[in-house]
Amino acid sequence: MRQLLPDPGDLDEPDLLARYGWPGPEWVRACMVMGLDGGIAGPDGRSRSISSPADRAVLAATRARADAVLVGAATVRAEDYAAMRARPSHAVERQAAGQRAAPVLAVVTATCRFDWAAARFTASEEPPLVLTTGAAAGPDRAAAAAAGCEVLVVGEQRVDPARAVATLRQRGLGRVTCEGGPGLLRQMLAADLVDELDLTLAPAVGGQAPAVAALAGLAAMRLAHVLEADGCLFTRYVRPGGA
Ligand SMILES: NC(=O)c1ccc[n+]([C@@H]2O[C@H](COP(=O)([O-])OP(=O)(O)OC[C@H]3O[C@@H](n4cnc5c(N)ncnc54)[C@H](OP(=O)(O)O)[C@@H]3O)[C@@H](O)[C@H]2O)c1
Repeated sequence: MRQLLPDPGDLDEPDLLARYGWPGPEWVRACMVMGLDGGIAGPDGRSRSISSPADRAVLAATRARADAVLVGAATVRAEDYAAMRARPSHAVERQAAGQRAAPVLAVVTATCRFDWAAARFTASEEPPLVLTTGAAAGPDRAAAAAAGCEVLVVGEQRVDPARAVATLRQRGLGRVTCEGGPGLLRQMLAADLVDELDLTLAPAVGGQAPAVAALAGLAAMRLAHVLEADGCLFTRYVRPGGA
């Protein structure tokens, strides 16, 4: 991995973690990988197939010191999210900083319908949060709670993204990595909740669902860095005035 901007040079793992530090205790970053043709998923409907080992290393760095990973229900289902656990080296740093052992998985869902036996719900280090609606069926909400998740109603028909972020902050989960999908990201941008956009441009084509619509609400941002590895460009854009 090497940095192209601002100061060119090689990066080791600690350098990479430093590039994805958190400017403050309340900050929302959004992460997305996009193919050269703008696709956000490969032919199998998953972003992993347009990603790369370096992209996954960047994703790990964006999560390393996050308090919460905020993600839409369709992404959790499509990408088959694993249990949320911190790498041992990250866990040590988290503990020293007074953070929870691992990021909390926070899933946005109107229906509250998942395979609640999946390890992401039953075996994550911290109990996942299910951010849902008053309209979700009682038995579905009860199934989430029975799986060990904390179920929070943050809207009647739809989850209000601003309330979702405020709810996380009330729980001390202010450093939020939003991993999409595009539907959730579009809402987060429309509500002006995104402080940082970490956009990977990958040399993949033939993908699905152009990312353009997801980014429609993007406000002006400042380029903080560009990294390169595996033929991917890793850009980090932040709010003007942000770190
Ligand atoms: N390239 C990338 O970086 C990247 C990143 C993430 C995902 N993806 C890809 O994107 C696709 C999925 O993205 P998507 O945009 O279709 O879906 P998404 O945003 O991940 O999830 C949509 C679902 O989330 C819930 N949801 C979203 N906003 C809500 C709100 N305000 N209130 C209540 N529920 C809400 C609903 O779940 P319920 O149906 O449960 O009600 C909705 O059906 C997959 O193919 C995935 O692989 C790509």
